[in-house]
Amino acid sequence: MTLQTEATQPAGLESLLSRRARHVGSDPLLQGMDRVGQRISFIFGFPDPASLPADEVASTTADVLRERGRAALQYGDNAGYSGLIDALIAKLARDQGIEAKRDNILITAGGSQALDLLLDALVDWGDTIVSEMPTWLGAVQAFRNVGANIVSIPVDHQGIDVAVLARELGRLRDMGVTPKFIYANANFQNPTGATMSRRRRQELLALARSANTLLIEDDAYFDLRYEGEPLPTIYSLDHDGTVVYMGTLSKTMGPGMRLGWIVGPPELVRRVSALKVDGGTNVFGAHVAADWLPERLLPHVQRLREVYRRRRDLMIAALEQHMPPGSTWTVPDGGFFIWVTLPEEIDTKRMHPQVQELGVEYLPGPACFAEGTGANQLRLSYSFVEDDLIEPGIRVIGEVAAAELREARGAV
Ligand SMILES: Cc1ncc(COP(=O)(O)O)c(C=O)c1O
Repeated sequence: MTLQTEATQPAGLESLLSRRARHVGSDPLLQGMDRVGQRISFIFGFPDPASLPADEVASTTADVLRERGRAALQYGDNAGYSGLIDALIAKLARDQGIEAKRDNILITAGGSQALDLLLDALVDWGDTIVSEMPTWLGAVQAFRNVGANIVSIPVDHQGIDVAVLARELGRLRDMGVTPKFIYANANFQNPTGATMSRRRRQELLALARSANTLLIEDDAYFDLRYEGEPLPTIYSLDHDGTVVYMGTLSKTMGPGMRLGWIVGPPELVRRVSALKVDGGTNVFGAHVAADWLPERLLPHVQRLREVYRRRRDLMIAALEQHMPPGSTWTVPDGGFFIWVTLPEEIDTKRMHPQVQELGVEYLPGPACFAEGTGANQLRLSYSFVEDDLIEPGIRVIGEVAAAELREARGAV
């Protein structure tokens, strides 16, 4: 008998694929990351490279290896490294007004895996979920991956539109459908930058409760507020286990850490944890983060707020200067994103290759909608581009948009 050693693709791979894999296709969300910096890139929610705390992490890593290298390089608990869980408990109580115990917390490989695991634990194919729309493109993709039926709720400058939400929940109730959860970003929403008002937070919580569903509060940008008064997390307003809170170190310590967390009722946390087969999430990184977090996070975040506030202001000034008449945009109090609405004749997906050819990129609006709507909208991240490239980049987008508009309106 001969062993076949050549790498061959099984003849009927398509027929061997799971329903999920067939449904999703073969275009991974993040590709060519090492090329992102070659353009003036407003496309991704990447942190400022120069601000990543590489030197601090290097010295903390050396300390961890010296002091407890054998534990840091070993397998870990499903729930995550207890030292990081304890550091998080202190941080969440200090900053987020969240009183958590160890059994409320699960460490995950970033917010992405947190959402994936929640979907795994809660959603079967064809189940209904409710989400802000537009929303984080990773969430759009993750919802699609599990074959969820997505009910979209619009977002305005005060966050999720609770009147539409109430109507949609009523419609679902009449149909006998209980959504598995409502997904929302209360702070500096991705992609609109909107912050949910206190009143909306309360109303959203009340609506989730009366619909007998869960509310997933994804607070990836919580630490990056540089204007306005902090508002209570919805989790801290909840007293009966309606809210599941998600966070991440990606936007502060760095996305390469791949560390995030879920905070929720112990029963749900155990259920989610039982589905997680990974030998303990990034045990080594979790040891480093546990030591870095208590003393270093706050000063680091102070520096980041300065950087991002300045970039937001530069981008707003450039938009005022270069966007064609009839364009509007949001002004966020924190986070990474500005959401631009161009005159209706403009198609941001069609216009993007021209902008890319001129060395600039942005995220076309349809990527942020489950239904692929938002044709005349786009998301700009000001987090990744150096100060002096913001105005030239926006100028290119404004010029291409103005040319598109002239063409659409038949002028020469
Ligand atoms: C709203 C939101 N949630 C979660 C994430 C997940 O990030 P990560 O998996 O890097 O923690 C992101 C990243 O862009 C985000 O914008």
